[in-house]
Amino acid sequence: MNEKVYLDYAATTPVDVRVLAAMQPYFSQFFGNPSSIHTFGQQAEAAVEQARTTIAQALGAQPHEVIFTACGSESDNLALRGAAFAARQQCKANHILISPVEHHAVSRTARQLADVFGLEVEYLPVDAFGRVAPENVAARLRSDTALVSVMAANNEIGTLNPIAAIGDLCQARGVPFHTDAVQYAAHLPIDVDALNVDLLSLGAHKFYGPKGIGALYVRAGTPLLPMQTGGSQEYDLRAGTQNVPYIVGMGRAFALVQEEHAQRTAQLQPLRDYLIEQVLERIPDARLTGHPTERLPNHASFVLRGLDGHTLLTLLDMAGFACSSGSACKTGNPEPSEVLLALGLSREWALGSLRITLGKDTRPQDIERFIETLPPLVVRARQLATR
Ligand SMILES: Cc1ncc(COP(=O)(O)O)c(C=O)c1O
Repeated sequence: MNEKVYLDYAATTPVDVRVLAAMQPYFSQFFGNPSSIHTFGQQAEAAVEQARTTIAQALGAQPHEVIFTACGSESDNLALRGAAFAARQQCKANHILISPVEHHAVSRTARQLADVFGLEVEYLPVDAFGRVAPENVAARLRSDTALVSVMAANNEIGTLNPIAAIGDLCQARGVPFHTDAVQYAAHLPIDVDALNVDLLSLGAHKFYGPKGIGALYVRAGTPLLPMQTGGSQEYDLRAGTQNVPYIVGMGRAFALVQEEHAQRTAQLQPLRDYLIEQVLERIPDARLTGHPTERLPNHASFVLRGLDGHTLLTLLDMAGFACSSGSACKTGNPEPSEVLLALGLSREWALGSLRITLGKDTRPQDIERFIETLPPLVVRARQLATR
């Protein structure tokens, strides 16, 4: 009865045992520095290049277009700052377009580019589901636009964006286009040519790989300055001795997503739909956040009026369920999420956010138990909020 149920796969996932097995030899057995000339170095380099090739093939890219970083956040930072500085240096472009519902790794980087480096950051409008309409991008592209960044899938509300259409517009105007695909890549296949993207961020721990490793796809020819300088690793775009075991793990985990995503979606989506239906039916004053259909297959997110989301999360945790109020990074922050406010929700609704994200170990009985457990806890959280 007290078994813990993890329903926060958008925050992170456990490392797949097959991924762990692939990583293990690269800690102590094949420990060489990939930049060394000798056999130890060659073995490590071969493993890094194998992982790079695996990821590139899955993306429809060339291996030299995949740059390993330390996490999804670093990939976003490199994309934004690197593209902004390169554009400014090469053609004096100074304008950046982003959506107002980006992960902090994008939004705070953009804010720093504006506040410290004087770039002009313009926010694209989003609809009530958090989607960016391509025509709103078209209307705002300028001759001095250095970069457009719109996330592929939102971490808090699960909404998918029309990335291919936005990318098409950017390509036609010769403006580099970045998408944060950190959540998207865990569930949906990516073809960088079909999506018309120039820069695309990945993070391994969202798809059963280790934490602390990510990658940035950089289309050949995209102007980009390195943000970490030093050695010439990663095609001069990210200095530092590569984290070989983690890169191997990321390569293996990404290969497994490609093989298994259809089966994972077939398992999770009906469970997710059932969960959404039941929550909306059983909980008064509850609304789904994000798009009803154009959303990540494992993602259910709600706002529940008149309660504090963090109180509800604590009650759920005590009852054995690990959920989230939106983004893992917001834990401890009593303010409503900027993302939910950008959708036009009032503070009274936005404070009561609940995100339930399913993963490959989620069983139907877990969801059944969750929907039985939730209603009295919502009543309790509402009572506590009125005290
Ligand atoms: C959409 C999105 N972008 C970026 C990140 C940051 O990734 P990382 O935790 O690997 O730095 C996250 C993590 O939650 C995310 O959901």
